[in-house]
Amino acid sequence: MFRFLKPAALSAALLSGPAMSTIALPDAAQRSDPHSYANTQDFRTRDLALDLDVDFERRVLRGSAELTLERVNPKADTLVLDTRDLDVGAVEAGRDGKLAKTTFKLAPRDPVLGSALVIHMPKGADRVRVHYATQPQASGLQWLTPAQTAGQKHPLLFSQSQAIHARSWIPLQDTPQVRQTYSAHITTPKNLRAVMSADNDPQAPLSGEYRFKMPQRIPSYLIALAVGDLAFRATGPRTGVYADPGVVDAAAREFEDTEKMLERCEALYGPYRWGRYDLLILPPSFPYGGMENPRLTFASPTVIAGDKSLVSLVAHEMAHSWSGNLVTNATWADIWLNEGFTEHATFRIVEEVYGRDAAQQERVLSARRLQAELAEIARDDDKTLTPDLVGRDPDDGLSGVPYARGSLFLDYLEAQFSRPVLDGFLNGWFNSHAFQSVRTADFVAYLHEQLMAQKPGVLSEAELDAWLHQPAMPADTVWPKSDAFDRVDVQRQAWLAGKTPAAALDTKGWTTHQWQYFIDTLPALSAAQLDELDAAFGFSKTRNQIIASHWWKQCLANHYAKADAGVEQYLGEVGRMLLIMPLYREMAKTPDGLARAKTVYAKWKNRYHPIAQDAIEKALARAA
Ligand code: BES
Ligand code: ZN
Repeated sequence: MFRFLKPAALSAALLSGPAMSTIALPDAAQRSDPHSYANTQDFRTRDLALDLDVDFERRVLRGSAELTLERVNPKADTLVLDTRDLDVGAVEAGRDGKLAKTTFKLAPRDPVLGSALVIHMPKGADRVRVHYATQPQASGLQWLTPAQTAGQKHPLLFSQSQAIHARSWIPLQDTPQVRQTYSAHITTPKNLRAVMSADNDPQAPLSGEYRFKMPQRIPSYLIALAVGDLAFRATGPRTGVYADPGVVDAAAREFEDTEKMLERCEALYGPYRWGRYDLLILPPSFPYGGMENPRLTFASPTVIAGDKSLVSLVAHEMAHSWSGNLVTNATWADIWLNEGFTEHATFRIVEEVYGRDAAQQERVLSARRLQAELAEIARDDDKTLTPDLVGRDPDDGLSGVPYARGSLFLDYLEAQFSRPVLDGFLNGWFNSHAFQSVRTADFVAYLHEQLMAQKPGVLSEAELDAWLHQPAMPADTVWPKSDAFDRVDVQRQAWLAGKTPAAALDTKGWTTHQWQYFIDTLPALSAAQLDELDAAFGFSKTRNQIIASHWWKQCLANHYAKADAGVEQYLGEVGRMLLIMPLYREMAKTPDGLARAKTVYAKWKNRYHPIAQDAIEKALARAA
């Protein structure tokens, strides 16, 4: 059994090893991916074999990662991997299965990128095995106590690798330009189930030992693991849901249309290439609505509204099986190729499965979020589809822009070239670039070749430039409209004009989206008006966490002190950033509010994912 060297022994081992050529890590602007130290011009990972033990007591993963590499440069004698807060014990290198200890060096920790792991590669070596352990504060892992789960009896662990957090639990080339197959041997406490973004077997007995294979090559940000008390229900021949045993039946009902969605996706964009499509419903501290881990989307329980009103999230994560997982952004600055395409596809799929009215509500909310964000964003390049992220944390640069602007761009192309033509064009894009990493320039080239050349004069170079590179939205953007929201406008105006009391408004059958729109479009209100709304609609008691978030935000904006206890409780229950960040930001607008936000955050900090902690801390620091 390998033992970890103490730090002192580690540096001694480094000094006494065979001389390692000193390598100066290249400057961010010179690397093909500014968010990775990996020297992909020398080596490219082909396969990753993980062997990890999940230790809930110490909150560490411990074991090894073995990388099989393609030697791009036969002369290269150094391999650089990405790590963050890993305890690296030993590294072996070699070829043909014969591995021997080699020297390595862990570079100083960069606050954004982590520590480059520089490994000496003997002549011809194309394989390395890194023995390591994670640290309890690993940015890509959340360790939950039993009390933080629905069942309250078992602990739970889950990973979140996108954008650059895989390196906090696996030493690897953490860039979306490199694709690898992977396998894993995971040992866990006996009563828990491990699942991965791989070939999960719901029938696997609870043995404390699980083996996985992901035979398709995927980028590092899609490697995912979760371990907990997980039950499974099938929702179709290829689809199903994993969740806490107390949640799984409600989840299976909510997501019963998943198989149908998958069929509609295939009809639009070509065959689903990943085998199964399952969902994993995590506790409310999951920092995102969903994460498109291949074969196993991770999702927030806040999307279980009880009436399927939030299932577009499944359409979104599923659509990533084409835009993102099959055709992958090559750098995080190209993320609109993942998220914008996916958002466009989401609305197409929602339209196919639930109709035009449902899709238009989604489109309008997306466009409204974009307009609100464009008004707030400080940097012009962050308003475009081609931001400059060099030297910045990709998580910090993330806004609705790549989603909504990207989607509106494709909507614009659809309006210019017709729906059947754009659907076919996207299908062709996914199939011709399958299992490749792409940059915006690749898309522009394909657009020229497949659309603009065929139909000259429809889209000018100036228009294309405006969509991609100019901060202002193009004047001929096709802004979506929703009749369902027009009906909400009528009711809101009737109430504000004093014509109809809130309790008498016609809100029958309103969707989550209509309620959200109603709340968001309210003007400044008095405490008496907020009292009336809450009495009529019970917003402060709703279990719909989306409606609740929008309500609490209005309460904060109107300094409605009665809501303070509810806001505080909500912030302790939900950790999904999209729902809680607006509340922290709203509070931080006044000195009193900021002080309260800091107190509330200190109280709930340990309930949040490390990624959410980082986001909240930065937001509060900016406000101070
Ligand atoms: N891939 C994203 C989540 C993500 C993006 C994580 C960038 C880390 C960095 C996921 O597909 C997503 O977009 N989730 C959205 C849901 C959606 C319906 C817009 C979210 O979590 O809100
Ligand atoms: Zn997405």
